[in-house]
Amino acid sequence: MHRPWKIAVIAVLAGLALTGCGKEDEAAKPVRLDERLADIYGRTCQTCHQNAETGAPLAHDLAAWKPRLAQGEAVLGDHIINGFKGMPPLGQCIECSADDLITLMRFMAAPAPESTQEEEH
Ligand code: HEC
Repeated sequence: MHRPWKIAVIAVLAGLALTGCGKEDEAAKPVRLDERLADIYGRTCQTCHQNAETGAPLAHDLAAWKPRLAQGEAVLGDHIINGFKGMPPLGQCIECSADDLITLMRFMAAPAPESTQEEEH
């Protein structure tokens, strides 16, 4: 082992990635929807994202969302707005703003707010 600097560089980069945006922490906390978004959610995203047969990453299935989130919110935002494979443009929510859609995505990618116990997924 005569390349310790390489390890140091990797360690620094890994540290930056972890502390840079605190994504890991954010993803672990439930996201709450206000009444308006909860209503929209029930009529749009939920119809597919709670039905495994659609091929959609299931709401609050953290393992399913992890690789999706790894793409970054710029890519995800584009996929929500323009559609992506089985995912319809705007997730079929014509009245949603871009912010609404990102909030809905974060809600689905986070643990369920009402869950009080650890669930195995
Ligand atoms: C008609 C069914 C349907 C509805 C309604 C729907 N989705 Fe999806 N969504 C999908 C499917 C299927 C995928 C998986 C696409 C793939 O990767 O094959 C998906 C994937 C996604 C992804 C991940 C995209 C990626 O790049 O990996 C996000 C984010 C998402 N949906 C958000 C939403 C939001 C927010 C709503 C509600 C506003 C919504 N979806 C409504 C079917 C739906």
